[in-house]
Amino acid sequence: MLVLGIETSCDETAAALVADGVILSNVIASQIDLHAKFGGIVPEVAARKHVETIGYVIKEAIDSANKRLAEIEAIAVTSKYGLVGSLLVGVAAAKSLAYTLKVPLISIHHIEGHIFANILSNPKMPVPHVCLTVSGGHTMLVYVKDLCQYEVLGNTLDDAAGEAFDKIAKFLGLGFPGGPIIDKLSVQGRKAAFNFPRPLWRSRTLDLSFSGLKTAVINMFKGKDSGTLPIPDIAASFQEAVVDVLVSKTIQAARQKGVSTISVTGGVATNRRLRETFSQICHQEGVKVFFPRPDLCTDNAAMIAAAGTARLKYGEVAGLDLDALPNAPLESVI
Ligand code: KG4
Ligand code: ZN
Repeated sequence: MLVLGIETSCDETAAALVADGVILSNVIASQIDLHAKFGGIVPEVAARKHVETIGYVIKEAIDSANKRLAEIEAIAVTSKYGLVGSLLVGVAAAKSLAYTLKVPLISIHHIEGHIFANILSNPKMPVPHVCLTVSGGHTMLVYVKDLCQYEVLGNTLDDAAGEAFDKIAKFLGLGFPGGPIIDKLSVQGRKAAFNFPRPLWRSRTLDLSFSGLKTAVINMFKGKDSGTLPIPDIAASFQEAVVDVLVSKTIQAARQKGVSTISVTGGVATNRRLRETFSQICHQEGVKVFFPRPDLCTDNAAMIAAAGTARLKYGEVAGLDLDALPNAPLESVI
């Protein structure tokens, strides 16, 4: 089954063709340069850029896969979770194409896309498993009982982990997006240089929180001359605090559900220290950990096409009245 995936939930305009788990094309037009000068994503700017780009990105996804429009058998689109103006662009494009081509339209939750990014990368990864999806817009722990069957175990109560990386990088004047910059800088820093707080670390809840950590870092260095700050030490110590919380909460979730497989996905899943710590702790715990290949960690449309293929197997099809829902919960297939 040849599925076109469309993803415009945030600042990447993406389209991909996936045929039964094989990625034929995966086109991503990044808006990073556009938003970098603001130190974060400006929703209206993102939506307008999607409008400008979406047609070309879809065409490129079809052309680079050496396919014709008429060969597409289904269209999967991110319609839930993200910036409403951005989501609407993808949804409108997907509806027009599904109507014109007379093929099924499948509505996908952005988090479900990230869950499928790892399934696409590691087709042998077993279910059930616990999935940590961690990026700039979300940090969520999900029990994946089976394909498209979910139980949300925990969520961030405030900032997403990637958002905290971005805000600390902005505060330190390092650029945007902050995650990869802090990841790189922390190699030269001492992770125990500062003992930053690890919110909710030892509590029983599977919810997470990063806003207190962010504020603690900012308060410690506010008003100081940035030229004198030990930036690599701050980066390494901050990153260590985030990693400690993410790893321990995920292990706690896996123990609670009695699973021996952990999936880590989303933009922050490319983080070097996060991967290293997960690998060490999971080895000690006798748990297997899986990460998507790096280009499938950040937002892309191949993961949306993969999720769409799975939902379609359950017979789930959306109507042409499909709307964009920025805060919709992650739901199992019916
Ligand atoms: O999944 P994604 O592309 O978009 C969202 O759904 O948000 O993730 C982007 C986020 C940004 O916050 C970025 O700073 C973070 O992922 N990120 C990283 C790394 N690479 C990207 N965070 C920490 N370490 C990295 N290496
Ligand atoms: Zn994402």
